[in-house]
Amino acid sequence: MIIANWKCNGSKAMIDDWFNSYRKTIQNKGFDAGIIGIAPPSIFLNELDLHIKKYDMDIDLCSQDISGSVRRCTGAISSDMLKDNNTFGYCIVGHSERRALYKEDNEIIQDKVFECLSSDINPIICIGESEEENNLGKTEEILKEQLNILRNVSLSDSTTIAYEPIWAIGTGKTPDPKDVNEIHKFIKDVVQSISANSRVPLVLYGGSVSKENAESFLKEEYVDGALIGGASLDGKNFAEIINTMRNIKC
Ligand code: PGA
Repeated sequence: MIIANWKCNGSKAMIDDWFNSYRKTIQNKGFDAGIIGIAPPSIFLNELDLHIKKYDMDIDLCSQDISGSVRRCTGAISSDMLKDNNTFGYCIVGHSERRALYKEDNEIIQDKVFECLSSDINPIICIGESEEENNLGKTEEILKEQLNILRNVSLSDSTTIAYEPIWAIGTGKTPDPKDVNEIHKFIKDVVQSISANSRVPLVLYGGSVSKENAESFLKEEYVDGALIGGASLDGKNFAEIINTMRNIKC
């Protein structure tokens, strides 16, 4: 699974360019390298949907956010709206930028996860430690605390966790892929042991993934894919990462 997180980027002209470059670079459409998704700003969801249909691309739409159970919430998008407008299979929840900038704590994130699961939307739940926590050797402790929102929760088949060390996001700094592999195994074990239906989730790595370093992460056993910010804004780069994924995992 490879998901593009466009964050607060994009325009109609950029989307045209993106599809042109992507289509020239992607090796074969329809191969089985798992889900390929794009999470654009919500204002461009329709534009993206039109392009995906026009070119008959094997790309899923993904939401960057969802409102939880509170409906009086200016600026938010509800699960009903997502389901009504497009066929949404996935939604990013708990990104560290939302935790930091919008003060989303584990309780709010859990509420959003419940909203996804009760609406047949698979959450992509982002977790990750800060640089300080990493230096103090607290990574597993922090991840366990963030994953605790899934205790006794019945998860969907495609519930996904994205391990995104905060210090690696947008910085060009990346952890050692071998360490990432161990952390992903840890995440899978924790979720299996605490979820109500003992689900082993897909685990994506996110944080400064590029076409140059993608292979080093994707070839690791417990890395099921990537959540990509900056490098996903260029259709050619994104397609090259998918081509890499395909060569490794298929
Ligand atoms: P980045 O962002 O690839 O630009 O580091 C990843 C993310 O925030 O999901």
